[in-house]
Amino acid sequence: MEKIKLPPPNFKGEISVEEALKRRRSIRNYKQIPLTLKELSQILWATDGKTADWGGRTAPSAGATYPLEIYVVVGNVENLKPGLYHYDIDAHSLQLIKEGDLRIELSRSALNQTSVKSAPIVIVIAGIFQRTTGRYGKRGERYVFMEVGHCGQNIHLQAESLGLGTVMIGAFEDEKVKNVLGIKEEIFYLCPVGKK
Ligand SMILES: Cc1cc2nc3c(=O)[nH]c(=O)nc-3n(C[C@H](O)[C@H](O)[C@H](O)COP(=O)(O)O)c2cc1C
Repeated sequence: MEKIKLPPPNFKGEISVEEALKRRRSIRNYKQIPLTLKELSQILWATDGKTADWGGRTAPSAGATYPLEIYVVVGNVENLKPGLYHYDIDAHSLQLIKEGDLRIELSRSALNQTSVKSAPIVIVIAGIFQRTTGRYGKRGERYVFMEVGHCGQNIHLQAESLGLGTVMIGAFEDEKVKNVLGIKEEIFYLCPVGKK
């Protein structure tokens, strides 16, 4: 399947982390304008991108077990066809998994929430418990949920810095989302992102 190299992320932003924390709010309505590939690259890197040669990422991970997989449902991004993509963290690139605009079907799996169908992209935080429970047993489950929260806050803060809005969607039917996306991992968060 097709592989798309993303532009490198910026490490200097327009606002301070304090401003981003102060201004962050859940935004559920977005302007109907496309995101750029640069914006997509930046927000995916912030979510859980690579920050160290040994594999360290923007979000902490219990015992560096890295249970999470990041996908993005693309609906309206300049120079990128709509579809489901997997974010290859190590290579900072996208792999096309499924072609076509999946947003309306995805929204149906999430109580028809309009944020999901109207956003130009929806970041999907998915994962595999076993990577962490394999080391920590049942307690590993909570570690995975905690890690998901770190990624969610990363998305919020980066979105704010880019002048974008987002909301963390936890209300959806797991099996329906898995069917729409055609993936086997557990689904934790749907994160629509768009211009506010
Ligand atoms: C675990 C979790 C699940 C959430 N699920 C949804 C959701 O399904 N739909 C939605 O619109 N907002 C959802 N939210 C966003 C909350 O409604 C929002 O954070 C809250 O109203 C406080 O507003 P604020 O984020 O602007 O401070 C969720 C937030 C969290 C932390």
